Amino acid sequence: MRTLVQTGALAAVGCTDRRNEFENLWEKPFRSVPDGSNLTHHVSPDLDANIILRWGDPILENAPAWAPGKPNPEAQSLQFGYNNDYLALFENGPDRFLLVANHEYVNPEMMFAARHRGGNGSVAHQMAAVGLSVVELVRTGSSFVPTPSPLARRISATTPIELSGPAANSALLCTSADSEGMKVLGTFGNCAGGVTPWGTVLSCEENFQSYFRYPEKKGPIARRYRMGSGRLQWHAVDSRFNYWYEPHESNRFGWVVEVDPWAPKAVPIKRTALGRFAHESAELILSPDNRVVVYLGDDAPGEFLYRFVSDERWIGGQTGLQAGKILDFGTLSVAQFSHDGKVRWLPLRPGIGQLVESNGFSSLADIVVNVRVAASLVGATPLDRPEDVQPLGEHVWVALTGHGSRQAGQKPVGSVVPFARMGQILRLTSPDGDHTAEYFRWEVILSGGNVWKDSDLLAGPDNLAHDPGGRLLIATDQGRRKSETGSQDALYRMDDQGRVMEEIFRGPLGSEICGPCLSPDNLGVWLSVQHPGAGGTWSNPTTRWPDFDSSMPPRPAVVALTPRS
Ligand code: FEO
Ligand code: CA
Ligand code: CA
Repeated sequence: MRTLVQTGALAAVGCTDRRNEFENLWEKPFRSVPDGSNLTHHVSPDLDANIILRWGDPILENAPAWAPGKPNPEAQSLQFGYNNDYLALFENGPDRFLLVANHEYVNPEMMFAARHRGGNGSVAHQMAAVGLSVVELVRTGSSFVPTPSPLARRISATTPIELSGPAANSALLCTSADSEGMKVLGTFGNCAGGVTPWGTVLSCEENFQSYFRYPEKKGPIARRYRMGSGRLQWHAVDSRFNYWYEPHESNRFGWVVEVDPWAPKAVPIKRTALGRFAHESAELILSPDNRVVVYLGDDAPGEFLYRFVSDERWIGGQTGLQAGKILDFGTLSVAQFSHDGKVRWLPLRPGIGQLVESNGFSSLADIVVNVRVAASLVGATPLDRPEDVQPLGEHVWVALTGHGSRQAGQKPVGSVVPFARMGQILRLTSPDGDHTAEYFRWEVILSGGNVWKDSDLLAGPDNLAHDPGGRLLIATDQGRRKSETGSQDALYRMDDQGRVMEEIFRGPLGSEICGPCLSPDNLGVWLSVQHPGAGGTWSNPTTRWPDFDSSMPPRPAVVALTPRS
């Protein structure tokens, strides 16, 4: 049963019988997590934390039980992937749910024993551990149990995926394996995403550059895209990850991928009209005239905030990837912030300003493939790591996670937006809720690093979602700044005036909290605990959460927070 979503309204849709109970749950503050960070997670005394899925859990037919330590790509291709990130949750009948989870990246030092870490098997396992999982769950009591399902699916770094939109068939996307530039093997770097009104999921390819081997001396575009040196050795196993063999392969990553979780045989599609960069998320809202608006953050220091507006109006009716074609035609714009509090959306089209052939932009394909460079040419405003961008009503909430390598008070060159070392949240306001308008207004609504209770700080805001009352759920990614705050990443809630209300959940040592997602059964919020134990290794992890078994490494996992019974 396909569940359709009203974007920009409740993230929890399909809300039926227990809606009031759920809304009441969120109306009063929760008691905050007690102080302290250690080997395990901490949750508000008003909530229970149920661990639903862990890396390696069997999800497809004939999947073997997880056996730690040694690469086993065949098994991994049937099991839940590593480093779960974005979560989308749909109802599929009474007490049945369909979960879509991104698997962002791999930590080989934590996944495998040292003697198994190198070599082809390790790389093949890594390729099978990224991408997405689709899992059907059955509620039993307060828990949710994976169940055999025809909808269950793994999408990985080797799954066939189609290209559509302006860059499909472009010479820039052609390779020796695909002379037409229409089909790609795989997706990785799948960070956050969004859900469409036609029942599909958008999955964002973020740090794709890490998987490619580029020469030390790079051209300006490769430098701008921070192309890597092949640290993970994927190029040693598959030459398409080596620039010298396939100079265009990396142009086929860094896109938004549309997946239909209700059609397990449907080939996912990379929607190239949404541009190529380190996509954090792709959250949708309908404009008053029913055009589809997608907000997009490019998570890198000094990069930009984007908006896509479809040409066509969404009139309902069609579902699945056929309906998603509306994302192939439209205008991609980039945000320019002014001192006077205005944001102007600058369209990225060939022939506008410096977007001309002499600068390498003779077509829309040229622009979307190298959109960072195009956006600089039209005067976009650099921001420090735009992460999740969450529209609701007339507003758009933008998490700038900040980073440790700029000092407070400094700004990215050319920016009017003050830099907050511990991150910040901007609130943009559209005129009368018209998300297609040329001008918005902007303000800083929360500065990260400010004490909100006793000595507690919120730092590194990253993934966002709204509760049923329009208050913002904020998951943090402090990275190395944890050593400055002395606290682990957490899930917070903030009211619409930028006041932090409470800390709902805090992760175990080394972890990052991602993917907050309201449960469509009206009974809680789900989240991802990514890379628990980071900073350690297989043999010496900083925690063994969530199994706490000396023969097991820490495992990334999905956690459901439900009202304490
Ligand atoms: Fe994958 Fe920007 O977090
Ligand atoms: Ca993130
Ligand atoms: Ca979000």
